[in-house]
Amino acid sequence: MMKTDKIKSATPHVLPALPYADSALSPVISANTIGFHYGKHHKGYVDNLNKLVGGTEFADLPLEKIITQTAGKADKTAIFNNAAQTWNHTFYWRSLKPKGGGEPPAELKQKIEASFGTLDACKKELATAAMAQFGSGWVWLVLNGAKLKVVKTGNADVPMTAGLKPLLAIDVWEHAYYLDYQNRRADYVNAVLDKLINWEFALQNAS
Ligand SMILES: [Fe+2]
Repeated sequence: MMKTDKIKSATPHVLPALPYADSALSPVISANTIGFHYGKHHKGYVDNLNKLVGGTEFADLPLEKIITQTAGKADKTAIFNNAAQTWNHTFYWRSLKPKGGGEPPAELKQKIEASFGTLDACKKELATAAMAQFGSGWVWLVLNGAKLKVVKTGNADVPMTAGLKPLLAIDVWEHAYYLDYQNRRADYVNAVLDKLINWEFALQNAS
């Protein structure tokens, strides 16, 4: 017989499993960093979100709907921040992979060259945006209509609310790199671009 005990919440948000082992991105990103970043920060956003939306009009909405319905609303900032950070981190983990970097698939490389000239120019623009982001935030490769573009967002902000389709995300909050690189954000971003970035994931998102 099925149990009919009342469950706490109709649709609690869950922390998605990491797409690889916590040591799989080492030495570019250590298991120690992943332990805190995924196990404490990402989990914390999910837990906070569940607490914040419980019993509200947002309780039964999927994550993307919560983000779009709370974006830009001053009285919903806490819900937006935790929902967007939940989404951003899930997207970030999938933007990386062990033995990533290198050459993008041909179809993506064509798009990159059409928009930036060369792959190196695209990577340089991502790295420059990462350094230009003052304080915490994110750097994104996005699709803007038919063109690829690099954008940065502050704190928890997402590109979707500006009508841009995200293809890749790089977390430039200090918690993403401080244990491994201290204040050397550029070294972290360049290592991620050379060795971890998941161009196949970008292509999937672009199609
Ligand atoms: Fe983060």
